[in-house]
Amino acid sequence: MNKERITTSKRLSSDSEEGSLRPSRLKDFIGQEDLKKQVGIYIKAARGRNENLDHVLLYGPPGLGKTTLATIISHELGVGFKSTSAPAIERPGDLAAILSSLKFREVLFIDEIHRLKPILEEILYPALEDYTLDIVVGQGPGAKSIKIALKPFTLIGATTRAGLLSAPLRARFGITQRIDFYKNEDIFEIARRSSRILNIDVNDEGAKIIAERSRGTPRVANRILKRLRDIAEVEGDGYIDESLARKGLEMLNLDALGLDNMDRRLVTTIISKYEGGPVGVDTIAVSLGEDRETIEDIYEPYLIQIGFLKRTPKGRVATRLAYKHLGLTFKNVVEGELF
Ligand SMILES: Nc1ncnc2c1ncn2[C@@H]1O[C@H](COP(=O)(O)OP(=O)(O)OP(=O)(O)O)[C@@H](O)[C@H]1O
Ligand SMILES: [Mg+2]
Repeated sequence: MNKERITTSKRLSSDSEEGSLRPSRLKDFIGQEDLKKQVGIYIKAARGRNENLDHVLLYGPPGLGKTTLATIISHELGVGFKSTSAPAIERPGDLAAILSSLKFREVLFIDEIHRLKPILEEILYPALEDYTLDIVVGQGPGAKSIKIALKPFTLIGATTRAGLLSAPLRARFGITQRIDFYKNEDIFEIARRSSRILNIDVNDEGAKIIAERSRGTPRVANRILKRLRDIAEVEGDGYIDESLARKGLEMLNLDALGLDNMDRRLVTTIISKYEGGPVGVDTIAVSLGEDRETIEDIYEPYLIQIGFLKRTPKGRVATRLAYKHLGLTFKNVVEGELF
């Protein structure tokens, strides 16, 4: 079996079909009703006034549709879409070049915007506020600052960590939208839609199992769907029904809530080594041999969402629900029967 974690936030080779699975219109973006309604209104209003849309900050855990939504916004605005990511922009001159190439009302998408260097943020502030670039030419006493006018554009920033954005940068986004984990019914629809596009044979019962185990995350649903297709073709008759889905998910090591070995290890570590917490995230990171950022960005959000973990000022605490799901009692833990 493939060693790559199906829940990883890193891009997998099998994600290459992601582009074809991306809805390009707001009406095809499944779920997130409140967000769609609001964004739809802002787009219509900006179009009606023939103005650029206010700058938009999209934040939320990986694989929930930030990039997808950014492309949809540019489509719905009927404007061009330029895409980059903060770590890819090295020098101020690079950012200045990107900004000055933007046409009126165009969308500039900057992924992982929390990783923008401070020196680049300085360039962005006047660009976002007054659509000007303040460029310093020359050096020493002869240096002077010149202003270059930009065409009004829309910046769409995406991040998994809105908390890491500097306050002045955050303040320059007129529209801030959080994308949350999806309801199972929405993931069910997303799985059905993707199966139609990819021509994968899956019935409602099969799609329901996929929905239950996708951690409320469209990207995970799409990955599970493709892995199950492989399993169905090789070990079944090419058809994903309930029994094939159950068998396949067991092979993929995803339990009834879509938790994988790493998620279970995280929770059992807190329970067995730290008596259920509170324990600091750095300590957990060392115990698991993972870096803190991965734990905070990838594992914790879903475990918190399903009520297995709590963040407290003193550290992370495993809840009763987590003990129950893992079939543990406090007695098991105290008596060291866990492993
Ligand atoms: N609401 C949705 N309806 C249908 N498909 C969706 C929806 N949201 C996301 N997807 C699918 O999930 C996949 C991942 O979405 P996307 O790449 O936009 O996530 P992201 O939030 O940008 O993730 P990351 O933080 O890793 O960049 C896409 O292929 C897209 O097809
Ligand atoms: Mg993205």
